[in-house]
Amino acid sequence: MENKKILLGVTGGIAAYKAAILVRLLVKAGAQVQIIMTEFAKKFITPLTLATLSKRPILVQFFDVENGNWNSHVDLGLWADAMIIAPATANTIAKMANGVADNLLVTTYLSARCPVFIAPAMDLDMYQHFSTQKNIETLKKYGNIFIEPETGELASGLIGKGRMAEPEQIVAILNDFFDAKKPLVNKKIVVTAGPTYEYIDSVRFIGNFSSGKMGYAIAESLAEKGAEVVLISGPTHLQCKSKNIQRVDVVTAEDMYLCAIEYFTSSDVCIMSAAVADFKPKERFLQKIKQKSMTLELVETQDIAKKLGEMKTEKQLLIGFALETHNEVENAMAKIKKKNFDFIVLNSLNDEGAGFHVDTNKVSIIDKFGTKTDFPLKSKMEVAKDIVEKLIEIL
Ligand code: CTP
Repeated sequence: MENKKILLGVTGGIAAYKAAILVRLLVKAGAQVQIIMTEFAKKFITPLTLATLSKRPILVQFFDVENGNWNSHVDLGLWADAMIIAPATANTIAKMANGVADNLLVTTYLSARCPVFIAPAMDLDMYQHFSTQKNIETLKKYGNIFIEPETGELASGLIGKGRMAEPEQIVAILNDFFDAKKPLVNKKIVVTAGPTYEYIDSVRFIGNFSSGKMGYAIAESLAEKGAEVVLISGPTHLQCKSKNIQRVDVVTAEDMYLCAIEYFTSSDVCIMSAAVADFKPKERFLQKIKQKSMTLELVETQDIAKKLGEMKTEKQLLIGFALETHNEVENAMAKIKKKNFDFIVLNSLNDEGAGFHVDTNKVSIIDKFGTKTDFPLKSKMEVAKDIVEKLIEIL
């Protein structure tokens, strides 16, 4: 819902009080809400309440009688990503179904090019009436989306169907609607992030300075675009915000290797931003080492990316990272070939503001055909967005 432009039409029924909660939830979810009220709606809830909650003046008339300022129904209709009429009375539904344009709300409805959601609220007999049902059917045929009223006790004291859906449910329906339009919906994407720790003994390890910030930013950015993300994370202090991220914590390169293989099999894409240790102690001492000097024998860890590159099917994509200090492009191209990457994100340690522990990064993206795109220094969140855009372009 972040930055979505929502036109909320409030009509004159007792359920108008629920519009206050609806606006609050929409604003909290990051939406920009412009409210249009009918004259009669103002009797049920004050414009001051709704203007305060939406942080915008309420629109009611076609123009301001004092200064002639025009509330353009055409501009409003073009501005919105979605329009929602909640509550929608039988009267407004009848007007909408028949193209009546006698107030700003219904006129804006006629001008709107965006999807329109209608949450009816009325007494049960009005709702069941043939004319109301016929109007609802007509509006459904025109492509409007109805949010069914609930059954329960109505303002009249009667019990039946006609209570406006709860604001939480309306927001959930809008959320699902926008989610379904996201470019990575139904895509399963694995992201590896952070360092790995290779045990020396029970208290010591070999590690690196990776903070995991880049990988976590990528996971958030993918989730924002609708992907189902599995974040295989080495030890970090970071938290995931999105509910679409399943985080799997690992410690060693071996753990990460096993996890990545398991999740990649059923995924569409894997983005490998982890700084995997290249070496691990040959032997892991179970107790704390006491001697004052020793020689530690190291052996190579498994190359996770190379393994996934071998497993990769035609339908899957593999994206790697390279942190280089010299011959950057040449080394990155060699990694694309060796690990079968579709593209690689190259960061150079020579660039100020790039690399470990900082919140910024400066990258180039090189695809498997050798096309290189350079990006300026940006926040890791912005860099993540660039990487995700490149992925969407390829998909
Ligand atoms: N990578 C991996 N498993 C490893 C080492 C690296 O999956 N054991 C992945 C990284 O996550 C990254 C890419 O491979 O996406 C390149 O990592 P990098 O450390 O730059 O490459 P190496 O193959 O280790 O080469 P070198 O250290 O010699 O530059």
